[in-house]
Amino acid sequence: MGLEFPNPVGLAAGLDKNGEHIDALAALGFGFIEIGTVTPRPQPGNPRPRMFRVTKANAIINGMGFNNNGVDQLVENVKRAKYKGILGINIGKNSDTPIERAADDYLICLREVYALASYITVNISSPNTPRLRQLQSPQELDKLLGALKTAQRELAQTHQKYVPIAVKIAPDLEADEISEIAQALLRHKIDAVIATNTTLDREGITDHRYYQESGGLSGLPLKDKSTNVVRELNKSLLGCIPIIAVGGIMNANDAKEKIEAGASLIQIYTGLIYAGPSLVKEAVDSTSDR
Ligand SMILES: Cc1cc2nc3c(=O)[nH]c(=O)nc-3n(C[C@H](O)[C@H](O)[C@H](O)COP(=O)(O)O)c2cc1C
Repeated sequence: MGLEFPNPVGLAAGLDKNGEHIDALAALGFGFIEIGTVTPRPQPGNPRPRMFRVTKANAIINGMGFNNNGVDQLVENVKRAKYKGILGINIGKNSDTPIERAADDYLICLREVYALASYITVNISSPNTPRLRQLQSPQELDKLLGALKTAQRELAQTHQKYVPIAVKIAPDLEADEISEIAQALLRHKIDAVIATNTTLDREGITDHRYYQESGGLSGLPLKDKSTNVVRELNKSLLGCIPIIAVGGIMNANDAKEKIEAGASLIQIYTGLIYAGPSLVKEAVDSTSDR
């Protein structure tokens, strides 16, 4: 990505959607922080209840639906933060923007956050925005990545600064779909891939409370599925594009497993909720002495 990280353990997107808590989160020892997902216009997200702890399974089901205050507000918050470390800004589309015009929303956000981000994540894998994952299909992905790369080239000129673009993908993909996505990322010279978002699968939690709630499942039940995507990506990318692994990292060993599967960096969300901030240091220790 052309970036130097103080350590490989990052905060995953969705915890600080508006970039309101950057300095506090950075103080927990993360090597990088990803804020968002942010959309062009503010939107309330899905009706509550929309987040459930599946405690006995060390998991969360969330159907938040990109609740956020809009990109203008996020920009203000980032400008106010004192944090000087690696900041990823994760961008998405408003739920009422037709999927055919999704690229417009990504481009609006890309332009607005460009100067402030260390890298920008294009989120095409949330299960809580209708039809969003359709953007992962070969034709749509080609179109979207083409538009983003063109804008990135222009912005790099204007700002005299190249900001890398990462694409965040779902865990609910077959091996041939993952390979097709990898080829598209290579073709368009995308700078990084984040694997994975939450899953629609409920395998392993069907005897737990809340398992029928709609939304994406994260935490321990997602771990292996997510690691498999990292392995599949690694087979196709062969080190040409760095992989950021996220999904079910609940302890130091899980962190190590992601690196061994081919990731250069990792991110955590649900593990932080269950294990607390000590997980950050544990994950750093287990992944840094390689
Ligand atoms: C409550 C909640 C909200 C999330 N919101 C976002 C989001 O806005 N954008 C995004 O790309 N991922 C979002 N995610 C997904 C996480 O960034 C991460 O990819 C996923 O939870 C798997 O990691 P984990 O098992 O460590 O939680 C969210 C996850 C949770 C639990």
